[in-house]
Amino acid sequence: MTTTASSLRLAARTDQLIGSVIDSSTSLLASQTHDIVRFAMGAPNAELIPTEDFARLFTTPAVGRFDYGATEGEPELVAQVLSYLARDGHPSDAERIVITTGGMQGLDIAFKILVDPGDLVVVEAPTYTNGIGTALSYQAEILEAPIDADGMVVEALPELVARAGRTPKVIYTIPNFQNPSGTTLSEARRRRLLDLAEEWDAVIVDDDPYGALRFEGTDVPTFAQLSPGNPRIFQVRTFSKILAPGLRIGWIDVDPALRRLAINAKQAMDTCTNVPMQHVVADYLGEGALDEHLARLRAVYRERKIAARRSLFERFGDEVELTDPEGGFFLWLTLAGRYANIDTEELFPTALRHGVAYIPGPAFAASGTFRNALRICFATSTPERIAEGVQRLGAALDEHLAQAGGAA
Ligand SMILES: Cc1ncc(COP(=O)(O)O)c(C=O)c1O
Repeated sequence: MTTTASSLRLAARTDQLIGSVIDSSTSLLASQTHDIVRFAMGAPNAELIPTEDFARLFTTPAVGRFDYGATEGEPELVAQVLSYLARDGHPSDAERIVITTGGMQGLDIAFKILVDPGDLVVVEAPTYTNGIGTALSYQAEILEAPIDADGMVVEALPELVARAGRTPKVIYTIPNFQNPSGTTLSEARRRRLLDLAEEWDAVIVDDDPYGALRFEGTDVPTFAQLSPGNPRIFQVRTFSKILAPGLRIGWIDVDPALRRLAINAKQAMDTCTNVPMQHVVADYLGEGALDEHLARLRAVYRERKIAARRSLFERFGDEVELTDPEGGFFLWLTLAGRYANIDTEELFPTALRHGVAYIPGPAFAASGTFRNALRICFATSTPERIAEGVQRLGAALDEHLAQAGGAA
């Protein structure tokens, strides 16, 4: 008898290995040969990555760089991360830090440590696709909380939790310039969330890849600033959005007792984060170039955000609703007027043919809602390319509408 893969006895958790529409779009777009304006991946364009510095630092010979490293991270990088955090008003301690393979591994470690099958995890709706995917991979049950212009509607949580009939073990939030909406959680809501976490004996997974990229408005205190040393705050951070995603270097900042578990969890995953890349980042930070680099990114992203909103309003007027992020990479577009009933997943092939890519709304909720919404990453493209992408999106929407029998 021949065995087929589909008859193998797999782990029950494979039912909840849902994959990532965002990550899959990387290969999808790589296989396209025509010109595409890329609003899809949350990635900076190559021109905003200090590639020459990285190349120079990568070839700096140093004994030990290609050995296994300490699971908690190369001491040089931990020291540089601590120095950056202190300069940025977020002092920490080496006893709290583990260098991770990007923010994704930080999330994986968080959910691995915190979630048993069937545990309730509160998430924003919409939220980061891979955040849901990671929670589900540990067989969490997802409780969606709505968002508005001030981030997660924390006031709605007690009733949602009461309806669920049990308290959450984890509250997963992206407090600054949220992925995908670009909204920021207000200070009052942060305080309330800290109280609720206490009341429910829950941990807040504070996933903040974009916080350093505020280009308008004023900083809102982080959970750790509001409640220093609170072990209920599990901070997940990454260099992906401020240096380069391909480095795959991030860190977690957690209570030392959780750090011990995080190290054990990481030892069961990948032993240590890529050692040469840790040194590239440590050396780059050691040269003191980060602050200037961040200032440049903020200026560029502000210009791109403004360009994206202007192009979208000029092309669509009140037939789209847009968020107005004060930092980060993303804005959230909800179709309105004549376009209100268009399904952005169905629209996607037409948009791709017209040379524009985005991530459809349903990718950002376990419930598959937000069918008439989409995420635009304004960080990747210049204002001219953004304007071009918006025209292509308009052409795709009009073609779709005409085919569906509506007036274009
Ligand atoms: C909210 C959020 N968390 C985590 C990540 C993952 O970061 P990394 O690429 O460093 O794994 C991303 C990347 O898009 C993100 O937007």
